[in-house]
Amino acid sequence: MDSIRIIGGKQLKGRIHISGAKNAALPLLACCLLTDETLTLGNVPHLADIITMSNLLGKLGVDISLNGTSGAGRVMELKAATLASTTAPYDLVRQMRASILVLGPLLARANEAKVSLPGGCAIGSRPVDLHIAALQKLGAVITLDNGYINAHAPNGLKGAEITFPMVTVTGTENIMMAATLAKGETTIVNAAREPEVVDLAHCLVAMGAQIEGIGSDRLRITGKDKLHAAKHSVVPDRIEAGTFAMAAAITDGELELIGAKMEHLNSVAAILAEAGIGMAETAEGLMVRRIDGLNGTDVMTEPYPGVPTDLQAQMMALMCVANGASMITETIFENRFMHVPELKRMGANITVHDSSALVRGVPLLTGAEVMATDLRASVSLALAGLAARGETTLNRIYHLDRGYERLEEKLAACGADIERVKAAA
Ligand code: UD1
Repeated sequence: MDSIRIIGGKQLKGRIHISGAKNAALPLLACCLLTDETLTLGNVPHLADIITMSNLLGKLGVDISLNGTSGAGRVMELKAATLASTTAPYDLVRQMRASILVLGPLLARANEAKVSLPGGCAIGSRPVDLHIAALQKLGAVITLDNGYINAHAPNGLKGAEITFPMVTVTGTENIMMAATLAKGETTIVNAAREPEVVDLAHCLVAMGAQIEGIGSDRLRITGKDKLHAAKHSVVPDRIEAGTFAMAAAITDGELELIGAKMEHLNSVAAILAEAGIGMAETAEGLMVRRIDGLNGTDVMTEPYPGVPTDLQAQMMALMCVANGASMITETIFENRFMHVPELKRMGANITVHDSSALVRGVPLLTGAEVMATDLRASVSLALAGLAARGETTLNRIYHLDRGYERLEEKLAACGADIERVKAAA
């Protein structure tokens, strides 16, 4: 297995192009199932999760072609003229939980879907009960057999009022997609407001869907008989941008994040400002640099527009070398401190109490051989390695490849001493 080797202590300086958002691209790919016409997506990042979703869509009968580049990413054309299958098999779903995003569109288009239950994952049990209950409200008959969700709607889906008891990102996306082809009106109350949900809504509207309240926590969708061809460009990845902002801060460097949008990162900018890091808009994106020393700051993750859970591990890496103490509280997932033992092996001083981690800043981390169990935990260890004295080897980097496009190339171009070490064949 490949690894990444980092020699820490280099200040990062330069410009980094932010890729299209993984978490926007995945539902956008899935929404091609809603029409028999071509969906053209630009700025699609080149990531392992995108390949997994493409493989799944291919199994379902979607014709996919790459057609050049746009923005920092690729152009993908997807055409689901007819569906070859309505089953999302276990071997693909277990690789990526976001495969659940085909459930709503398949059911809406074909009146049936069979999708493997995603099961547990490294950051918690992450059930899909809210997706299932909401589809049942739209009239689907759902049974769970042999590890599969079996869903049928013989007479098609029917609009309904759905109130999510907690904010769910892919749950909102699944129901929004399903409702675009349901009969009548669907209201989603307590909808997720993440920029990736908004991006999907805009693409669905371009495909002919009628959606009101986009960007709010109350969406009203009026079902249509058919959706049609559209072109859409994937929104820039705020989590990638936030991660590189932490890289600038932790190395006392200065990075311009090309394409990054302040409107998506306000909560992150506020935390960084408290810590002494400036994040300012430029003509092309955002500039990040230290203004004062680096100070410990309390952080609590929340649904958007709050601080994203997908940046919690990276913020913790930063707070490990800040002056003073920081309390980092995770409110979205119950088991999302898997990076803590590895950061401690690099010299961090962290104590976990239930869903909070007390981080006492240390003057310096030291390089070590580390491994991580999920995507954002992995990148937090890379950030720690950039700041640490000596060499850090990051193992199991297939997690990184799921969600970061050419991470080591982007960082090396800004002065980091980082390389991918290919495993011996
Ligand atoms: C999405 C993101 C993920 C991010 C997360 C929270 C994608 C592909 N993934 O994941 O990167 O970390 O949002 O911002 O966009 N829950 C239930 N039952 C359900 C659904 C969710 O109990 O049916 C719970 C989850 O266990 C979790 C919380 O709701 O505690 C929020 O999860 P959710 O927003 O659904 O996360 P995902 O959509 O899976």
